[in-house]
Amino acid sequence: MNKSTSVKKSISILGAGKIGLALATLWTKAGHSVCLGSRNPEKLQATNVKNIKAAAAEGDIIVLAVPYSAVESLITEVSDELKNKIIIDATNPFDLSPEGHVISTLGSEITAGTHMATLLPNSIVVRAFTHIMEELLVSRGTKQPGLFALAIAGDDLTAKSIVSELVTDAGFVPIDIGNLAESAPLDPGGILFPHVLTPADMKLVLKKNLARQHMIETFDKHVNAELAGDLETTLATMTNSPHLHNIPTPVGGFGIAGVQAFYKNHLVGKFFPPDVEMINVARIVSDDYIVDEVVVKFTHTIMIDWMLPKVAPTGKRVEVAIAVIVKFSEGKVAHEHIYWDQANVLVQLGLLDAKNLPVTGVESARKVLDPSLLTQS
Ligand SMILES: NC(=O)c1ccc[n+]([C@@H]2O[C@H](COP(=O)([O-])OP(=O)(O)OC[C@H]3O[C@@H](n4cnc5c(N)ncnc54)[C@H](OP(=O)(O)O)[C@@H]3O)[C@@H](O)[C@H]2O)c1
Repeated sequence: MNKSTSVKKSISILGAGKIGLALATLWTKAGHSVCLGSRNPEKLQATNVKNIKAAAAEGDIIVLAVPYSAVESLITEVSDELKNKIIIDATNPFDLSPEGHVISTLGSEITAGTHMATLLPNSIVVRAFTHIMEELLVSRGTKQPGLFALAIAGDDLTAKSIVSELVTDAGFVPIDIGNLAESAPLDPGGILFPHVLTPADMKLVLKKNLARQHMIETFDKHVNAELAGDLETTLATMTNSPHLHNIPTPVGGFGIAGVQAFYKNHLVGKFFPPDVEMINVARIVSDDYIVDEVVVKFTHTIMIDWMLPKVAPTGKRVEVAIAVIVKFSEGKVAHEHIYWDQANVLVQLGLLDAKNLPVTGVESARKVLDPSLLTQS
């Protein structure tokens, strides 16, 4: 076992289950004083086991290692004992989505760390040991100390540096991924969960994740500026040599001057009618592409130059599936290729007779939103 890098600490681990016992083993070997808190201390073989309240009172640093469903009642029980202490939160609001993906039961709007900090306003919360499975925690921490990384997050720098030392003492390389609001990568559903990576690989994964988030934010800003007719912001989200290609129509733009002219002459005020509704069906994000599958609904009350050039408003309803392929270069939009079935739109406007032609009308977009309709001819 690696030698402890830190001053000997008094640590109480609340929850003497798989993760709690694993941490107790590693830190005891590293020379720290470890107390385990259990509801049934008499049943455990470990050296220093106490009931939850006594254990919470003993340690200067507290680890929460109980099932997520038990967290709130545990905190209520020992709120006085936890005051002003560093709380290492290893608990996970873990669930599986209906498709079988790991997700946070708290949803995507709030991190587990931010939520824990609201439950413990008088303590200092640091998230750690969340994205590694306990059997790897013990085996990698003891057999390959210093090889693999563990992410930590918190709002207090001093507390994070203390927890970093404890991560090192457990046999891992701590990687600070930011404050609690930024800690989604180490939560269930996050990019690091449940993975064991070397420090270099973890940094690369986090860097790519950040770049993808930046791409998403940039593209959302780009579309919002397009909708608002804000030419300056739209162009600021693009590279210096972009192009736009609306595949079914002759309208687009090449190079900064071409794109500028396209926006000015064909898009501002003519993007979509005011009643437009956009329903996101799917978004695929890679290192340098975003692909959006969207169903767009509107009433054709204005000229829509990019989609229906030279077609005067018909007043007809349109529901159309659109695929937008967006290429990024150095964090900015380099090009957009926009695909839709123009015959489908023309049928809905009454400008194309679907009879005797292999084309469809409104049902096409509806089947994208509700695939069960595909069973109907
Ligand atoms: N297992 C992993 O690989 C892993 C990895 C990272 C994070 N985590 C997270 O760490 C936490 C603990 O996971 P675990 O796998 O160690 O769970 P576990 O093996 O089920 O152990 C949790 C321990 O908490 C105690 N406990 C259970 N219900 C409780 C309650 N209502 N009130 C107070 N204490 C209670 C029990 O100990 P007593 O009966 O002795 O009281 C139990 O042994 C979870 O939030 C989990 O998501 C787990």
